[in-house]
Amino acid sequence: MRPLLLAYPGNEALGESLSEALNVETLAFAMRRFPDGESYLRIDSDVRDRTVAVLCSLHEPDGRLLPLVFLSDTLRELGARAVGLVAPYLAYMRQDRRFEAGEAVTSVSFARLLSKQFDWLITVDPHLHRRHALGEIYSIPAAVVHAAPHLAEWIRVHIAAPLVAGPDSESDQWVRAVAEAVPCPYVVLEKTRRGDRDVAVSPIPPSHAGTDRTPVLIDDIISSARTMIETVRQWRAAGAAAPVCIGVHAVFAGGAFADLVGAGAARVVTCNTIPHESNAIDLSPLIAVAAREFLTGSPPSRRGE
Ligand code: R5P
Repeated sequence: MRPLLLAYPGNEALGESLSEALNVETLAFAMRRFPDGESYLRIDSDVRDRTVAVLCSLHEPDGRLLPLVFLSDTLRELGARAVGLVAPYLAYMRQDRRFEAGEAVTSVSFARLLSKQFDWLITVDPHLHRRHALGEIYSIPAAVVHAAPHLAEWIRVHIAAPLVAGPDSESDQWVRAVAEAVPCPYVVLEKTRRGDRDVAVSPIPPSHAGTDRTPVLIDDIISSARTMIETVRQWRAAGAAAPVCIGVHAVFAGGAFADLVGAGAARVVTCNTIPHESNAIDLSPLIAVAAREFLTGSPPSRRGE
């Protein structure tokens, strides 16, 4: 029987691309809020003995987590053989240690919750910094899709003479992979974060300042956009052309997108892991490759139970 794909509200566009690429059936369901804010959920497709992929990007995750729990529980109660999660953006990856005494290490708690609810996980470039693999905190099989080849392809097509730049050591992994694939030179700056919206980025090294190339700033997540904004400022201060900013995940909290455009970015481009007007790089072919393995293989066995 063909697998089913359930596109959580807001994920319809990527859901359509994936359904087409994977030749899966779309799962019919209804979801709404009661007047008191509680969730209502109804599954309208026959899921007995079928594998179900739930597509839900996990930006603003707190409001999505409980409906996801209800979804996976209900799918299992109705007889689904396996329930996987395709979360192009995986939240809670940045709080990966107790930076100050008493803090919650939310990445671990979040991973434990999702691992309990789903049989497998697919995501795109999770923020792995102090952790090196999802398997360190997720106890289910997990596949990671890397956006770098598609970022490089976009740069090759759109920027004549790029100079790729990362704002901090954490971005080094993406920046180096993209620069090698373009190919073009790259530089990685240093960032100091003093608070949620208080970020400082080091000046452009003299060897790269005053370049004739177009700076292309790359980061995995653009959230408050303070990291990108401060990096744009440094390039402008160095006399470079207005930078193009590329983010994998368009989190854009509050007015962050407008702030970044207002700071002097020539263009802001993101991947379609989170629906946003800046989406210009389609990762559905890569996500489909990862999903095909889970959907056509034998149901992944659950670990950690
Ligand atoms: C952090 O280490 C990430 O790689 C990004 O640099 C960070 O999440 C960006 O956050 P913001 O847009 O809030 O500066």
